[in-house]
Parts: sequence; structure tokens; C-alpha cells
Amino acid sequence: MKVEPGVAVQVVGLSVGWSQEPLLVDLSFEVRRGSIFAILGGSGSGKSTLFRHLIGLEAPLTGRVEIAGVGDPLQARGRPRFGVLFQSSGLLGSWTLGANLELPLRRWTALEPEEREAVVCARLGQVGLCGYQNHLPAELSGGMRKRGGIARALVLDPELVFLDEPGAGLDPVTAAQLDDLILTLNRNLGLTVVLVTHELASIERLVEDCILLDREEKGILARGDPRQLRVESPDPRVRAFFQPETLSTPAVP
Ligand SMILES: Nc1ncnc2c1ncn2[C@@H]1O[C@H](COP(=O)(O)OP(=O)(O)OP(=O)(O)O)[C@@H](O)[C@H]1O
Ligand SMILES: [Mg+2]
Repeated sequence: MKVEPGVAVQVVGLSVGWSQEPLLVDLSFEVRRGSIFAILGGSGSGKSTLFRHLIGLEAPLTGRVEIAGVGDPLQARGRPRFGVLFQSSGLLGSWTLGANLELPLRRWTALEPEEREAVVCARLGQVGLCGYQNHLPAELSGGMRKRGGIARALVLDPELVFLDEPGAGLDPVTAAQLDDLILTLNRNLGLTVVLVTHELASIERLVEDCILLDREEKGILARGDPRQLRVESPDPRVRAFFQPETLSTPAVP
């Protein structure tokens, strides 16, 4: 299978799950190059499981994932062509932030130490962490660790990043700043962003295209621009996902 032009990630007939109990059945969708695409859904709907399949950490029951310039991420060997931010930031705790960012450069490039240092500095500058190279992750706030994780995801200059719950656990102001950073990277670098998120505010600010997963359906309940789905979807489950306040309105006695 070849990825269509203008497409960053193509998923065809993907079924995932365990033994007799598939979790998601026959998913097909594509992520457009240069877009900010979200995987949405209630708790337990399979977002993180799908995320792991997209980045090639797990093998599907059937179907496949193709990434432009990478092919099948399960088979991908060699220099990673996409960046990943794991939910916990994924920074190695006993290494300084600078050493964490340098690791992929040591592994995959022939840059000299001072050249690596310059790349690390530039990437940290991009996420507002200039001068924090010598800090350990534990010496940074949650929001700074997330930004550090994003800097590391960008260190090899990918065209595509996968972000798992980037705003989770952050206060609303810090989460909004992180969203601004993601938007800037998308607009200025043309970075394609695939993210898992729960946060309605982030969806509103960032997301132009999404899939909404549903556990009962074992698949995609809705696909498209969340702003449109929220008001135009004929499915009340979809409108309720985007407007949960309508569900919590107390009944008039
Ligand atoms: N390795 C596994 N073996 C069996 N079941 C699993 C495994 N991993 C996840 N599951 C189940 O699959 C379902 C979906 O899990 P997943 O973590 O993908 O959901 P999620 O949408 O990311 O939820 P949340 O929003 O709470 O993070 C859950 O019921 C979970 O228990
Ligand atoms: Mg999850």
C-alpha cells in the first residue's frame, strides 16, 4: 500500500484488541499533511491503544498503518521519521534535559558534540526552555517537562509528531500555553500533529480534524471538524461529547 499524496498517516481496515475480544474493528481514516488531528473518545474507548498502533509499538489483529516516508511503522528500522511525546513526557529521570535531547542525535546523526549542543539549544529555545539544559526532569514543572518532551520529539526534525494527552495534568493557563506552542509549531514548521486529548478547551483551540472513538461501536462514531460535529452531528452521543454541560444540566423540578 502506498500513502496517497497529501496524506501523512493512512490507516486501512485496522482491527486491534486481544484474543477473542477486539476493541476497535475495521478502522479506516487518514491524517492530512500539515493538519492537527485528534483521536477523541470516552475513557476506555481505545485512544491510547490506537496511539500505540499508529507509532508501531503493537501489531494489529488485521489491517495496517502506513506513514508517509516511513511505510509500516511496525517494520520501520533506522532513524525515526516521526517524534513521539508520551503521556508522562518520557524523559529519562536521571539524565539532564540536555542529555535527554542529545540522545537521539548521538544515536542517529554524525554531528560533533558542539553541533549537537547547538541543536539542543535551538530546540529548547523553540519551546521556551533556553538555559534549562542542565536541569534534571524532576527539577522542572509539569508544563516544562511536557515542553521538554516536545523538544525531544522535534530534535530529529520530523514532519510528524504524535502527542499523547499533552495537556493532561496541567493547569488551564499552562495547558493553553502548551496549545499555543503546538499551534505555532504547526503553523511555522508545517508540522503534522496527531494527538490524543480529553480537554475540550484544547480541542476548541487546536483541532481541525478528528475521529471520535466509541467503545460500544468498537470504532469511529464521527469524523470531521469538531466545531461542526458539535452542532451539526445528527448523533446525540456526538453532540453530547462536545457539549457535556448539556448533560449535567439539572432537571427542572
Ligand atoms: N494489553 C491489554 N490487554 C487487554 N486489554 C487491554 C490492554 N490494553 C488496554 N486494554 C483495554 O482496552 C480498553 C481501552 O484502553 P485504552 O487505554 O486504549 O483506552 P483510552 O481510550 O486510552 O482510555 P483513557 O481515556 O482512560 O486513557 C480498556 O478497557 C483496557 O482495559
Ligand atoms: Mg488513554
